[in-house]
Amino acid sequence: MKILVTGGAGFIGSHIVDLLVREGHAVAVIDDLSSGSRNNLPATVPLHVVDIVDTAAVARAVAAEKPDAVCHQAAQMSVSRSVREPLFDAQVNCIGLINVLDAAVHAGCRRFVFASSGGVLYGDVTTPAPESTPANPVSPYGITKWVGERYLAFYAAEHGITAVALRYSNVYGPRQNPHGEAGVVAIFSKKLLAGESATINGDGHYVRDYVYGPDVARANVLALLDPSSHCTPGAVTSLNIGTGIGTDVVELEALIRQAVAATAGARAGQLPLPLHGPGRAGDLRSNLVDATLAGRVLGWKPTVPLAEGVALTADWFAKRA
Ligand SMILES: NC(=O)c1ccc[n+]([C@@H]2O[C@H](COP(=O)([O-])OP(=O)(O)OC[C@H]3O[C@@H](n4cnc5c(N)ncnc54)[C@H](O)[C@@H]3O)[C@@H](O)[C@H]2O)c1
Repeated sequence: MKILVTGGAGFIGSHIVDLLVREGHAVAVIDDLSSGSRNNLPATVPLHVVDIVDTAAVARAVAAEKPDAVCHQAAQMSVSRSVREPLFDAQVNCIGLINVLDAAVHAGCRRFVFASSGGVLYGDVTTPAPESTPANPVSPYGITKWVGERYLAFYAAEHGITAVALRYSNVYGPRQNPHGEAGVVAIFSKKLLAGESATINGDGHYVRDYVYGPDVARANVLALLDPSSHCTPGAVTSLNIGTGIGTDVVELEALIRQAVAATAGARAGQLPLPLHGPGRAGDLRSNLVDATLAGRVLGWKPTVPLAEGVALTADWFAKRA
């Protein structure tokens, strides 16, 4: 099967590419390298350095590749940037998505997988939210993910393609960008490896559902290759991808400190204790997703527990420190 991964040079996209290549599929990537890197990709994978907002360039790249399936990971993914620059957010996440969808159906593509977000759709929830939870996005980023699913539904109905929207919880793992505002595991790992304290926003009792990047990549591959009869052509199937387990930032920092210390054969107590900064306006207190449906439809469930995933991530950053 020929699969085109947009955003394939990024964190989650590059894990998807790795898995597809390992399974013997032909893979090509579209990425503007705004946050991704060529180094994340196997040398054999063709990369089209294209901004998905550029309609003609996307059409050319997709027509050249003629993929059977498209996995759309490219996005503007900063919530705070979306608040500051809602127009830019909509250009990348709506116009960019429409460009990719349009080019895909014109090139004869029959399957489309879209990276959506449970975190921004469901808002504050204290128990794992199922897909039936009414969407209530409050940031422009959340709104464009929600609108993205509606466009996906339209293209699926209009062109009879099989479309899956995967609503990730908080994804972490090797290759995540440690310089952004999100990606707390990457940010704290990098800080602690530099011998500095991690800074916890507010009291740190903000609960999130952390899921390991390569587990998320596997969900994408299952959705691309083998959607069961539940994924009807002509409709969009939305599936949560997460663990349903809540961890707050104070607990997470302790886990990361332990993992980073282990990379140097030290004890967690030998690393600097965290500092507490001001709370971030609008931060949700609790957000977690119920991925039971992804288990039924894709046969997917998370395999890497948080402590193990954090250790693998700290190890990866330590080797590059
Ligand atoms: N990381 C998370 O916790 C999380 C949670 C929910 C949803 N998501 C979604 O998963 C997807 C992948 O996120 P990630 O964490 O791997 O982020 P990432 O920044 O590592 O990956 C995004 C990739 O898209 C590329 N890109 C960005 N804008 C582009 C444009 N205009 N044209 C072409 N390429 C462009 C970037 O260069 C990068 O390689 C995104 O759609 C994001 O919204 C991520």
